[in-house]
Parts: sequence; structure tokens; C-alpha cells
Amino acid sequence: MFNFFKKKKITEPVPEKLPFTTDIHSHILPGIDDGSPDIETSLELIQGLGELGIRKCIATPHIIGDMFRNNADTINMALEETKYACEEAGIEMELSAAAEYMLDDYFLELLKKGDPLLTLHGNIILTEIPYTSTPQNLGEITAAIHEKGYRPILAHPERYHYYQQNFEEYARLKQMGFALQVNLLSLCGYYGKRAEKAARFILEKELAILIGTDLHHQKHLDAIKDPHNRIIFQHCTGNNVFNDLELLLKLK
Ligand SMILES: [Fe+2]
Repeated sequence: MFNFFKKKKITEPVPEKLPFTTDIHSHILPGIDDGSPDIETSLELIQGLGELGIRKCIATPHIIGDMFRNNADTINMALEETKYACEEAGIEMELSAAAEYMLDDYFLELLKKGDPLLTLHGNIILTEIPYTSTPQNLGEITAAIHEKGYRPILAHPERYHYYQQNFEEYARLKQMGFALQVNLLSLCGYYGKRAEKAARFILEKELAILIGTDLHHQKHLDAIKDPHNRIIFQHCTGNNVFNDLELLLKLK
């Protein structure tokens, strides 16, 4: 069969490492969301990240009211299992865990109850919103998050369909109080042309200092390892520093 989509020849050096050493967004813990289904897969994914230069990995399992009601217990148990298995297998990786909170009614209940949320670092939480329908009360939710003393990161703003039509929304999300986190694979078109264009716009305009792998499975890892894609990641990120959570805490 003809390969109409044969990729161009590589004419420049492929970067050995990813443009960051801490990954702040991944689904590598076994069996608790739509990411890794078992510990063997978790180890393969973590080893793969290590080979790409990731030294510290903050796992962020989904917490979605009608799908994955994870909590500190389910997440920490999966984290401990993974840490132990890494040690046994001789895989060196600094592992910790937080969560990726869908900003739904269940999240608002948790916020209202006042139990501590799972943070990436300090008071920083990772959040997401639905892909296809604009959340009506996002401003109010963000204000409530800040009022409770948390600082929200919005995961993959480039993937929300309603913002892809209007790039001005990205600056508005920042004004609203979100730090923006682009997905690495958006930059090479993995999630489609629109997400690619939006992700590149966000980085070009310096609206984001956070990039995540959002790694769920081997297919994601293969795409991240792809030499053509690694050159694209390098071009899009330049010499900028990403995922410095200490720096994020200091920013207004
Ligand atoms: Fe995610």
C-alpha cells in the first residue's frame, strides 16, 4: 500500500530530552481512572518518561463526579503501590500525586465541605472543564476556589472546542485567575489541527509556563517519543523554563 502520509526526512538533531524535567500532569497510577489499567503498564509509562529526561512525576488521576470519585485514599494507595513497584524494578523516578479535578457539582461540594484538596505543590490544584460545552459559571467557580485559598491551573485550554474559535478567551482565563497548562502532544497535532494552533498560540503569547504530558497510555508515550514530534516540541518551547511550581506560587 502506498504511504501517502510518509513523514519528511529528519534534517536536524533530535533532542534527547523533553523541554522539562518535572511532569505535572499524568494518569500513570494503576487502575483508578482512564489512564494506566495495571501496575505493569504504569511501570512501562514511568520508565518511558524517565528515558525522556523526566526526573519528577506528579500523577494526577481524574476526579469527576459521575465517573471517577477518587479521593486521597484511592490515590495514595495507588501511589504507594507504584512507588514500591518502581523500587523493586530499579526504576528511578521521584513520584508524588495530586488530582485533576473536573469543575463539576461534585467539585463544588468538595470545596464547600472544606476537606483539603489534593495539591500539586503548596496551594496549587489542577483542574479541567468539559470539552464541548462552555461552563456557564466559570468566573464564580474560580472566585470560590481562590476564596478557599487555592490557586487553580487549567489543564489543556487548547483542547476545549469553544475556546478554539476565539483565542482572546485564553487571556481572559488568565485574568479570571487560572494558570494555563498546555499539553505537549497538542503542539504536534495529536489532538487535531485546531488544538495544535491554539496550543502554539498560547505558548507564543507567553500565556502559559506549564506543559504536561497528560500521559494515559502507550500510544501517548509513542507519540511523545516520535523524533519528528520531539523536534516540534523543541521549536515551540525554545529556551523557556516550564513547570517551575515555586515560580508559579510567586506570580500574582
Ligand atoms: Fe488529564
